[in-house]
Amino acid sequence: MKKILPTGLMLIGLAFSISTTAFAADEKKKAPEVINGASSKMLADTCTGCHGFDGVSKGPATPSIAGMSAEYLTEIMIAYKSGDAASTIMGRITKGYSDDELKQVAEVYAKKKYVSADQKTDAAAVKKGKKLHGKYCEKCHSEGGSEAGDDSGLLAGQWAPYLRSALADFNDGTREMPKKMKKKMKKLMKKEGDDGIKALINYYSSIK
Ligand code: HEC
Ligand code: HEC
Repeated sequence: MKKILPTGLMLIGLAFSISTTAFAADEKKKAPEVINGASSKMLADTCTGCHGFDGVSKGPATPSIAGMSAEYLTEIMIAYKSGDAASTIMGRITKGYSDDELKQVAEVYAKKKYVSADQKTDAAAVKKGKKLHGKYCEKCHSEGGSEAGDDSGLLAGQWAPYLRSALADFNDGTREMPKKMKKKMKKLMKKEGDDGIKALINYYSSIK
């Protein structure tokens, strides 16, 4: 018995080394494909320097991107790439990716947990913003903009300076607004002006 055991172990060891050699040979055959396609993780890792680890940005001009719908994230990145949405940096970055790769990265961030940014707000402005949101925006940005819709991003807890620049881009036409949002925005701007925008941003920033 005592002599058989080591032989048995050797056999197991031999079988193991044969199977790993076979596996290595298989991997070599596959290598060209692996080099051509970067993994989702590799693609997504290039974003963390700006958007934070797990898509939660340290802000304030860079938005958090975790937990938004994959559809919205893909759409906005394709819009940056084509120039339909104005950007300081994302236009250049997205040009380095195919549309399929952008979708792949969007799916990585859509699965992560959204975390509201910790920001100071003005109580009176928050109150006014809540009212304005209900009147002009809630229909599409439900629950104070805290629900990740298929076609719109998250507003609740997003960095205020980012929201301010996104709204400015919409209003000066360098980022296209959905038709119905444009109508509501026009009404809001006519009635409330920039104070209305300030109030809305305070409201979104106050939501934890
Ligand atoms: C150098 C910094 C930087 C890097 C790297 C970067 N981003 Fe951005 N991102 C920004 C900034 C700034 C904005 C705001 C738009 C602009 O001005 O370009 C933004 C906006 C976005 C938005 C829009 C968010 C919203 O609420 O609509 C998405 C989505 C996004 N980035 C995804 C990514 C992904 C995915 C990567 C990696 C492939 C990435 N970004 C890499 C800085 C960066
Ligand atoms: C008819 C539906 C609708 C209404 C009403 C609407 N929105 Fe939007 N909103 C959208 C959609 C869809 C998007 C995504 C648009 C895109 O980038 O193509 C969006 C995007 C946004 C964004 C950009 C988010 C980001 O992450 O970059 C902000 C900010 C925003 N809306 C604010 C508002 C405010 C404030 C109001 C009210 C005054 C409003 N919206 C009313 C549908 C609507």
